[in-house]
Amino acid sequence: MKKLLTIAATTLAFAAPAFAEGDAAAGEKTFKKCKSCHTIANGEDTIVKGGKTGPNLYGIIGKTAGTDEGFKYGKDLVAAGEAGLVWDEASLANYVADPKDFLKETLGDSGAKSKMSFKLKKGGDDVAAYLASLAPAE
Ligand code: HEC
Repeated sequence: MKKLLTIAATTLAFAAPAFAEGDAAAGEKTFKKCKSCHTIANGEDTIVKGGKTGPNLYGIIGKTAGTDEGFKYGKDLVAAGEAGLVWDEASLANYVADPKDFLKETLGDSGAKSKMSFKLKKGGDDVAAYLASLAPAE
């Protein structure tokens, strides 16, 4: 049974679209740049103990933007979520490269602002793959 599951998982991996081919192990290292502001915690279970300047990023892939109840977001990120932004690996990689530009483009509003002041120069796909691996089992 275990072998069968492995085969199924491999097939799925090959069937996945070719964009956002992130490396989760590399992304775990990249996340060191994020943890001054972001914790990753599943309820009481803290996976990465980090800062509280930004929201908890557990299960962020597949989640509507701006909806961590414990966090006070900027209004433009909330507006993007209300307009239908659900994080996937590609959008998350774009966002972390330049959060303000991402919101400007997503909202079509050249005055859009982000509370996240950090920009990740490279490795967005990797960090997105890492975050995708930290989510409730479906
Ligand atoms: C200097 C602090 C800081 C750093 C460093 C930082 N962030 Fe953020 N992040 C924030 C803040 C603050 C917000 C909330 C933005 C808003 O409300 O506009 C945020 C929001 C986010 C969101 C949206 C979350 C949601 O619930 O919709 C994601 C995704 C994210 N950050 C990922 C990252 C990743 C990945 C890194 C590392 C590459 C990172 N951040 C580094 C402060 C930071």
